[in-house]
Amino acid sequence: MADRDDMNDAKNFHLNVPAKTEPFFLKGSHALDWGMQNRLARIFHPQSGKTVMLAIDHGYFQGPTTGLERVDINIVPLLPFADALMLTRGMLRSSIPPSAPRGTVLRASGGPSILKELSNEQIAVDVEDAIRLNAAALAVQVFIGGEFETQSIHNLTRLVDVGNRYGIPVLGVTAVGKNMTRDARYFRLACRICAELGAHFVKTYYIAEDFETVTASCPVPVVMAGGKKLPELEALTMAHKAVQEGAAGVDMGRNIFQSDAPEAMIQAVRKVVHENIKPDEAFEIYQELKNKP
Ligand code: R5P
Repeated sequence: MADRDDMNDAKNFHLNVPAKTEPFFLKGSHALDWGMQNRLARIFHPQSGKTVMLAIDHGYFQGPTTGLERVDINIVPLLPFADALMLTRGMLRSSIPPSAPRGTVLRASGGPSILKELSNEQIAVDVEDAIRLNAAALAVQVFIGGEFETQSIHNLTRLVDVGNRYGIPVLGVTAVGKNMTRDARYFRLACRICAELGAHFVKTYYIAEDFETVTASCPVPVVMAGGKKLPELEALTMAHKAVQEGAAGVDMGRNIFQSDAPEAMIQAVRKVVHENIKPDEAFEIYQELKNKP
């Protein structure tokens, strides 16, 4: 039974203080519902407004990629340094401790392997399972200009519909086919299509020329994809430029887990993304951490 003995009639309603209505910190996300914003805040750091996502979903079409042969050994130690982890539900359930990641971005499209036409993907996760896994977002590949362009767009729009129903944000991942030009014009097109069709954030590649026009013309946050392994200083420089040119962080895989020192590298990437430090300073931090006994 509730205890009424100590009820105190003196109350302070702070009548002269207006109720706080804090704007949500992410671009284009102010009109989203509470659950959706809460999930986005598990991916993007509310203080910096940015994210360091660690992408380890490669196996869904290319099997045990170098560096991901043993996720339990190679990836789990990196989790304290990642704001979010992008992966498949199979790898999440089998190899990731439930207490480890802050936000999980669940790979939700798939189908073809590297032996087939990659754009021929379908939705690969039921929203009920994503909820069961407490996913912070769903990720879907969009192949603009690809053979199965319309099908991949349809995957996105269907996931956006279920995501909106249950408060789960959708990440549109712009895939670049072998014969597609990687330039600002292409990425403006691809990112804008994802956002127009409802993606809550978009992942795309960095390009040296006019990347800022890609981020500026996309009304939702853009995270930079890592791409193939580069020397560490180059990868840090690319991440730095992307953030300076409007990216809301990075979603890097091979440039972290294929580094000579993955733990040092992810910490250096964090410095670039969350603290805006220069690439050469970040590289020094990488080397110091790498050489630490
Ligand atoms: C892109 O197609 C997939 O999401 C990849 O499996 C992954 O996210 C790529 O990461 P990275 O290019 O940084 O290794």
